[in-house]
Amino acid sequence: MPEHGPNHELSAMRCPMSLGDVDLFSPGAQEHWYEAYDILHAQAPVHRIPGEGFLPGTDAFVLTKHDDIAAVVRDQDRFPLPGSLFVQQLLESEKDPFATPQVNVMMASMTTLRPNPEMWRAHRQELTDPWVGPGASRNEEMVRRTAHELIDRWIDRGTVEWVSEFAQPLPQMVMANVLGWPLSDLQLLKYYGDGCVKPFVYGSGHRNILPQSEIDSQHEVLEEFKAYTLDLIASKRKSPQEDMITFLTDVTYSPLNRKLTDLEIAGVVYAMVIGGLETTQYALAEQVQLLIERDGVWDEIKADRDKVRAFTEEGMRLRAPTQGLSTRITSQDEVFQGVEVPKGSFLHLRWAAANIDPEEWECPQELRLDRKAGTRHLTFSQGARVCPGASLSRVEQIVAWNAILDRVASFEYGEDNDFLHQPGIMLGTMKLNLKFKRA
Ligand code: HEM
Repeated sequence: MPEHGPNHELSAMRCPMSLGDVDLFSPGAQEHWYEAYDILHAQAPVHRIPGEGFLPGTDAFVLTKHDDIAAVVRDQDRFPLPGSLFVQQLLESEKDPFATPQVNVMMASMTTLRPNPEMWRAHRQELTDPWVGPGASRNEEMVRRTAHELIDRWIDRGTVEWVSEFAQPLPQMVMANVLGWPLSDLQLLKYYGDGCVKPFVYGSGHRNILPQSEIDSQHEVLEEFKAYTLDLIASKRKSPQEDMITFLTDVTYSPLNRKLTDLEIAGVVYAMVIGGLETTQYALAEQVQLLIERDGVWDEIKADRDKVRAFTEEGMRLRAPTQGLSTRITSQDEVFQGVEVPKGSFLHLRWAAANIDPEEWECPQELRLDRKAGTRHLTFSQGARVCPGASLSRVEQIVAWNAILDRVASFEYGEDNDFLHQPGIMLGTMKLNLKFKRA
């Protein structure tokens, strides 16, 4: 187990000792999530949050069992997304979703491009799969180049601040290259990305709710983001390049038998930016800590590069970047683990807890490179709504570790690390000073 740091003592929250202490959402909870999961698995695998349901008078339930969550994400009728109900309402209102205040371009484009499960599938297959889904292998060489470019910046120093000098810029540069976003505007991509994910960092409770003043300032950033993206789309239409935005200006979308509008393309870009930056950053930041802390793993993957993939899967299982999301509701009365969950309840799917469910995984806390079917973790969810960027993230992680293994002989922790995580629902180590020896 982690040998590092006083972060438990630094946390704004006391480590939970019993079920009554468990609170996954208040400030400082991040430092104790894994202790909380052990308590929940043993005593309350379906954990009620009173009064926080979707319909008035209902509750929210935190699900932590692998079987329960896997069943939920596989049944879209019984467990719809709250967002898809909103999309239905927008459709029925017959208003122009792109002109509806407080509806961002991503949500608006869901209304026109993927209002039902068939079109959701087509959207994935025709619009995103060729770049960030199964087609993501086309990006391998670019990811390798990017990883080495970043390593070049610090390899002679013997020290690196891993988050700001590798884990964060890698997915930013990769996403910029995939989209065709100018690298000279990388800081803007980060600024807009931060605007998109703001609720997941600064929102409160299981629904990640921002105060109104923050919603207003987020809205301003998102409007800027939209204007920037529309300019970029216009420039791609004028001079096409080999990138995802250019592709989206040209593709004929079969369910509608037409090309996409600029606003629809901006909606797809928004989805790529909200999903494609920090998530992979957090994966890389957690994985380097596992490599330092778990004896023998570094040597094993260095000696046998075929094991890098198993390492990244175990890394994502043990330290899921997206720890949980309140992303489904119940459309009828349900029972999980003997607990009655009425229609209209919110389900908070705790992917990270399911990933260490002792009924699903043998010795769940061990990092095993020979784990059977290790990819059945729920870090990317599963089923029809599984993360559409999972393939790109996997390419990034595998290529990044291979580049690091080529250039670095060994890592250890440097000075001044507190190992604290950012607020919110993601497992994001904020800073990580490392020392290393060159290969
Ligand atoms: C380690 C990295 C990543 C993790 C842990 C992750 C995790 C997730 C999870 C848990 C969901 C929710 C699925 C559900 O509700 O069932 C999701 C959805 C999503 N992810 Fe990822 N993701 C990662 C990387 C990426 C990347 C690289 C992209 C884009 C290139 C991306 C784009 C999206 C989008 C757009 C959605 C919303 C679903 C949709 O619109 O189809 N993600 N992701």
